[in-house]
Amino acid sequence: MSALDTPFARRFGLKWPIVQTGMGWVSGARLTAATSDAGGLGVLGAATMTLGELDAAIGRIKARTDRPFGVNFRADQEDVDARVDRLVAAGVAVASFARAPSKEVVDRLHAGGLYVIATVGAPRHAEKVAKLGVDALIAQGGEGGGHTGVVPTALLVPAVVDAVDLPVLAAGGIRDGRGLVAALAWGAQGVAMGTRFLLTQESTVPDAVKARYLAAKIDGTTVTDAVDGAPQRVLQTDFVAALLRSGPLARLLRGARHALALRRYTGATVGGLLSEGLAMRDRHGLSAAQVVMAASAPALTRAALVDGDLDAGVLPAGQVVGLIDDLPTVEALLHRMGDEALVVLERLAAPPEVRRVG
Ligand SMILES: Cc1cc2nc3c(=O)[nH]c(=O)nc-3n(C[C@H](O)[C@H](O)[C@H](O)COP(=O)(O)O)c2cc1C
Repeated sequence: MSALDTPFARRFGLKWPIVQTGMGWVSGARLTAATSDAGGLGVLGAATMTLGELDAAIGRIKARTDRPFGVNFRADQEDVDARVDRLVAAGVAVASFARAPSKEVVDRLHAGGLYVIATVGAPRHAEKVAKLGVDALIAQGGEGGGHTGVVPTALLVPAVVDAVDLPVLAAGGIRDGRGLVAALAWGAQGVAMGTRFLLTQESTVPDAVKARYLAAKIDGTTVTDAVDGAPQRVLQTDFVAALLRSGPLARLLRGARHALALRRYTGATVGGLLSEGLAMRDRHGLSAAQVVMAASAPALTRAALVDGDLDAGVLPAGQVVGLIDDLPTVEALLHRMGDEALVVLERLAAPPEVRRVG
């Protein structure tokens, strides 16, 4: 048994303790199935899917692999009850949430046999979320892509491990076997990666957009709340620069345009969009322009990640994007990370004279 064979990995029969996180518009059926099939844990990014798309995606994953996989969505989505029912009926192994799910949703998922993972960005959130009865936490450091906090991974992960009595997965800035060993050293039972999996063969992000990610330098991301009112790490593009420069009225109009586009894509109702925007306002004290932007944010991300529109889209990305320069298959990536982690562990365990030569 190796150090990679953690209780979390054993629980799901994983070859490596590596989770491909739920990413809206990015981790569809192809990427999720490829990850689980290759011995990691794939998570479907379903927060941006309609119920019909969720059903179809689950069907496609199950046709490709009989290994366990997860589904990521939001506990405050209008149709959360129907989503929970679908997951239970399909025998999905894991549900994951970016924000704390309600206790009621956690209880319903548990009653249906699912394992529940929530992402946290601060030790005090970890304690709060643990009280909801979730089974494991992803501790995502500020380096991470998408919505993110300010505490770096190297500080957050050990602090969360100390704060709660739950399995913790380290996220934010992980891309290789060295990061995996570091996570284990901090007390995590594995790693969860977003940006690294976005840049694989099986990710359906258009090639031109992948090229834009690959060209980014380590200082090529920025954290802004201009997209939807909550701090989000994205690539520094011309579009984002324009968004940051534009005044409230321009943002309002831009947001309204994208909110309308979103209705076409997701089937969300105007009322649903509005209440989502208003909920963001209540949570974060947003302005009218921000409310509309919040409601339209998924359409902005879709424009780039699905349609390949680099001029009118938002590209969530972790800082690690600046250290990634290839597009491996998921299987090659997992093997490479696992092999490298074992070599690093062996080197660390070797006597000093051997270590110096190595
Ligand atoms: C393009 C993109 C989309 C994301 N969408 C979601 C999402 O829908 N739900 C979620 O829980 N996290 C989302 N995240 C965050 C990731 O799940 C993950 O926690 C993060 O990417 C980890 O940091 P890393 O990018 O440094 O690996 C997203 C991240 C990226 C890069």
